[in-house]
Amino acid sequence: MKFDLDVNGRTRSVEAEEDAPLLWVLREDLGLTGTKFGCGLGQCGACTVHLDGNAIRSCITPVSSVGVGRIETIEQMTADAVGKHVQRAWLQLGVVQCGYCQSGQIMSATALLRENKAPQDAEIDAAMSGNICRCGTYQRIRAAIHAAAE
Ligand code: FES
Repeated sequence: MKFDLDVNGRTRSVEAEEDAPLLWVLREDLGLTGTKFGCGLGQCGACTVHLDGNAIRSCITPVSSVGVGRIETIEQMTADAVGKHVQRAWLQLGVVQCGYCQSGQIMSATALLRENKAPQDAEIDAAMSGNICRCGTYQRIRAAIHAAAE
């Protein structure tokens, strides 16, 4: 089937199976490889993108369910007011270790900070609980979210 998707502010037409995960459409058809595949089961958060501003797991989101929703990926965050602050804080605090999960972490952090400009630790932990980091950078992620909120 043909889908016209709103991705990072542009309409992108793709041919895909109805049940194709959005993750694979983004990576394979649109070349947006900043979004990562981790578990494929909606459990690790590596594939997090925004749909209408909300953090979603693209590995378990069929492309046919997106409709006219506005999709944003990590590639768009350099042009996003909040995303820019988040990425700057990530760099300043040296959050990244291996880096694999970090685009998903940044997408979840950006969605949080758009909703809540000064989140408390418990709110950060709740918002970020679906993003797993096998290097254990959680303390730096929390610090960077506080820094981006300032
Ligand atoms: Fe989507 Fe793990 S790859 S949640």
